[in-house]
Amino acid sequence: MNEDRYPFLRACRRQPTPYTPIWLMRQAGRYMKEYRALRKKYSFLEMCKNPELAAQVTLQPIEKFKLDAAIIFSDILIPLEPMGVEFEFAKGEGPVFHRALREKKDVEKLRVIEPEEDIPYLMKAIQIVRKEIEGKIPLIGFSGAPFTLASYVTEGGHSKNYILTKSLMYQDRPTWDALMEKISEVLIRYLNAQIRSGVQAIQVFDSWVGCLSPDDYEEYVLPFSKKVMDGVGKSVPLIHFATSNSGLLELMKHAGGDVIGVDWRVNIGEAWARLGYDIAVQGNLDPVILFGPVGLIEKEVKKILDSVGDRPGHIFNLGHGILPNTPADHVAALVDMVHEYSSQVRQERR
Ligand code: CP3
Repeated sequence: MNEDRYPFLRACRRQPTPYTPIWLMRQAGRYMKEYRALRKKYSFLEMCKNPELAAQVTLQPIEKFKLDAAIIFSDILIPLEPMGVEFEFAKGEGPVFHRALREKKDVEKLRVIEPEEDIPYLMKAIQIVRKEIEGKIPLIGFSGAPFTLASYVTEGGHSKNYILTKSLMYQDRPTWDALMEKISEVLIRYLNAQIRSGVQAIQVFDSWVGCLSPDDYEEYVLPFSKKVMDGVGKSVPLIHFATSNSGLLELMKHAGGDVIGVDWRVNIGEAWARLGYDIAVQGNLDPVILFGPVGLIEKEVKKILDSVGDRPGHIFNLGHGILPNTPADHVAALVDMVHEYSSQVRQERR
């Protein structure tokens, strides 16, 4: 299929589509029994590092739901390992790093990676998936954004108040800048390698940047995020996502991206009006709404679709990743509702 025909890619470029396209952040994962069955045999990182398994998991939600895009199965932390940052996924706790980064000399030791050599399994998985879904739906590649990755490296895991990250930022600017610079360089290489391997869109996850004030974002983060997005170029659409980002929308637009991803803490129609209609938007159902009942999901879906209107350039998604234990039949219902209601509205307006 000609790339221009995929509703997801068209919406990224603000071109009209017959219905609103939908995909879900973390759409491959523990809420699916097919994923859990495979996960009994392999660890999460084993699945990421085996191209056949990663491809298989990428395809699981695609085979089950009528989603408009696939996202390659991997993790934002994957490029950190070849940089020399060691971590593991401890049971039920999320990522735990063996040693947190504190000083300039730690930053100097970080390696700038060669993605095709250091992370060949991801590039192979992308190639396998592209062959499988050719002509059906496009494939999204992704990375973390510099701030979110820097926060994992400095905190040594997930954090509530980001005291170590912000302290480094406020108290040792040269080390902070050196760290952000190095991560940005890695991300430019990493994302361009994914594009060369075949991804047709990119999402940059700045999951935790909403902990910053707008001024701090502009001062300490924006130049690096911008550098990454400028470094990826314009060959594929780029989605720039963050949570708790309602105070940062205009600045995120300035940093870059063809699409801004928003979470549920903001009305998406108002967010779009603030951003301006020369950029597309993605979001923003609260993932907890998917626990139901179905009538509630329907009401919230209509609210989101009505608030953006049928202006081209909206991609339906959750406001953050889908949660474990989400009922799979509700996901199927959500996808159908978005397609049916949005195509109905478009037909009525014709
Ligand atoms: O969207 C997709 O389906 C692609 C796969 C994907 C994963 N992680 C798989 C995963 C993507 C896009 C990510 C991104 C990611 N990883 C983010 C940004 C998105 C977001 O939610 O803000 C972040 C912050 C991470 C880091 C990470 N990975 C954490 C904090 C955890 C542990 C918490 C958790 O949800 O388990 C992971 C593990 C992880 N990444 C799992 C999956 C399917 C669960 C692994 C398992 O099976 O135990």
